[in-house]
Amino acid sequence: MAKVIAGVGCSHVPAIGAALDMGKTQEPYWKPVFDGFARAQEVMAKLKPDMVIEVYNDHGSAFSLQYIPTFCLGVQAEFQPCDEGWGPRPVPVVHGDPDFAWHLVESLILSDFDMTIVNEMEVDHGLTVPLSMMFGPVKEWPCPVIPLAVNVVTYPPPSGKRCFALGRAIKKAVEQYPKDMRVVVFGTGGMSHQIHGERCGLINKEFDKAFLDGLTADPQKIASIEHKTYVREAGAESIELVMWNVMRGSLEDNAIESFRFYHVPASNTAVGNIILTNPGVL
Ligand code: DHB
Ligand code: FE
Repeated sequence: MAKVIAGVGCSHVPAIGAALDMGKTQEPYWKPVFDGFARAQEVMAKLKPDMVIEVYNDHGSAFSLQYIPTFCLGVQAEFQPCDEGWGPRPVPVVHGDPDFAWHLVESLILSDFDMTIVNEMEVDHGLTVPLSMMFGPVKEWPCPVIPLAVNVVTYPPPSGKRCFALGRAIKKAVEQYPKDMRVVVFGTGGMSHQIHGERCGLINKEFDKAFLDGLTADPQKIASIEHKTYVREAGAESIELVMWNVMRGSLEDNAIESFRFYHVPASNTAVGNIILTNPGVL
């Protein structure tokens, strides 16, 4: 049977993708970031996922203000990286898995999560940058990736508790799939950052550390953080962190922190990466 073996929390700063794509990884500003992610890639190589479910947000690239799905699942076979204004990232096409994606849709809807079903969409930095960070500059991604997009761009985004419950439903759906598969769930975005207005550039290291600590030790407390707390304490765009609760909800309560990396700054953002594994996996 399929099983969620691990979860990844990962920032998706577009400038990190650009630095990789333009060969700047050894420049002094970027080297610490890429050294951190090189260590994360060693852990991913041990985990060897057969499937990634990547919880991410679109930034007005595939969707516009015309349609704002709260939770949606991409069921198509291939997802092209989209043009965000400077051409599509030169990264491999993302292969999905329609059979598995439709299984997820069915199981999640029957678990009372009314997913929007997306047959056609492109994917932006929210999805491709974490793949680059966790797998490196590869010719092909090592496994299929199911995009699960969450609205965190227009208020109101879903609550942390709802995201955690979605993770629980994903765990159940994966365990119902009749094929041996090692599934890793990604929660992307964050950490503290604000990219507009008077508080542009805001970083809160204490908030980020408490978030990372609590994700393993007290996930219910992290899931209870309210939107206004994210915005006040860690900047408007830190609301992306609600998506990490989906990842946490898909794991066992006693999941173990196997890797952590935190660095400031990258662009306007605190970069965070955590890998949680279920007991016995590593
Ligand atoms: C930045 C961070 C993001 O999460 C994003 O989606 C866009 C920009 C930034 O720090 O520049
Ligand atoms: Fe973002």
